[in-house]
Amino acid sequence: MSSQPKAQTSLLSIEGLSVEFADGKGRSVKAVRDVSLEVKAGEMLAVVGESGSGKTALAMSIVRLLPNAGRVTSGAIRFDGADLLTADAASLRSVRGKRIGVVFQDPMSSLNPYLNVGRQITEVTELHLGLSRREAREHAIEMLDLVGISEPSKRIDQYPHEFSGGMRQRVMIAIAVSCKPDLVIADEPTTALDSTIQAQVLDLLDGLRKRFGMTVLLISHDLALVSGRADRVAVMYGGRIFEEANSREIFSRSANPYTRALLSAMPENTAAGEELFQIPGMPPDLRVEIEACEFAPRCERAEGVCGTARPPFAAVADQHFSRCHFAEDVYSRG
Ligand SMILES: Nc1ncnc2c1ncn2[C@@H]1O[C@H](COP(=O)(O)OP(=O)(O)O)[C@@H](O)[C@H]1O
Ligand code: SF4
Ligand SMILES: [Mg+2]
Repeated sequence: MSSQPKAQTSLLSIEGLSVEFADGKGRSVKAVRDVSLEVKAGEMLAVVGESGSGKTALAMSIVRLLPNAGRVTSGAIRFDGADLLTADAASLRSVRGKRIGVVFQDPMSSLNPYLNVGRQITEVTELHLGLSRREAREHAIEMLDLVGISEPSKRIDQYPHEFSGGMRQRVMIAIAVSCKPDLVIADEPTTALDSTIQAQVLDLLDGLRKRFGMTVLLISHDLALVSGRADRVAVMYGGRIFEEANSREIFSRSANPYTRALLSAMPENTAAGEELFQIPGMPPDLRVEIEACEFAPRCERAEGVCGTARPPFAAVADQHFSRCHFAEDVYSRG
């Protein structure tokens, strides 16, 4: 192993991760395919891709919360040097909730409807920080205040159904950051909310990241939402990373036709009166594995080679990688 110091330390390192689901009919869905990602301490990395591209499977593997039908078939996941895939139950419990906080898409299914929101925060801090009941309650009031819930000392005793969708998501964030974790994984944290509230909740998450020096892995199907927030973006398609670069390059000089198609489909990039561009066709069938580019049937740049050889994930510039046979050419278009 190299003893060379790294330019910026990776907090989370995913190497060659593959995840499969049993589809119940004797076949397996290869949801994550040989994914490698480095998440650096303090950054916000966004993983973006259409629905079904394997984003949630990737996120859930990190915290070992895959549903029963799913399993990691290969790869390694290291968090601050420790291997999460081989960690025993006790060390996993001490990482999850304490050092890694998770915010899911739907707070209604992840919050307990029978516990007041205060208890849902104090449970975590009593367990992980060893706070007394009283200390935990005071801390929970502070957390609710911090995430923008007014009259926190009153609302702490209320139940999830007494909060609006946006406020429930703020409560989820309060729980996720209550132990000041090193890493927050937010999987489509705002998808169920209207766009103004979406922006507010993401600004909150970003503000907390800066305030606590946290690292954020933000997962979204919406490129527009991560624009201006994420430091780096990884674009996923059919279980693979198709492009990875800093945000500026992704938005202004993408080297991948799939990313470019996603960019064209952004309402922000559609002129007034013009019809919104939709990527034609359907995402690939994840039950099959092909020696080709998975995007070929939908790609306007595709040529013969795209249907016969899988493109490599290669660098087009410093820290900018693309999976496309014509990456250099696409990149040079500016
Ligand atoms: N519990 C499950 N059982 C079977 N297949 C699943 C399960 N969860 C996800 N999948 C499949 O894995 C693929 C990736 O899903 P997912 O990771 O949820 O994608 P995303 O989060 O990008 O929308 C999809 O094809 C989906 O059908
Ligand atoms: S390899 Fe071919 S099909 Fe795949 S993204 Fe590039 S041009 Fe399109
Ligand atoms: Mg998902």
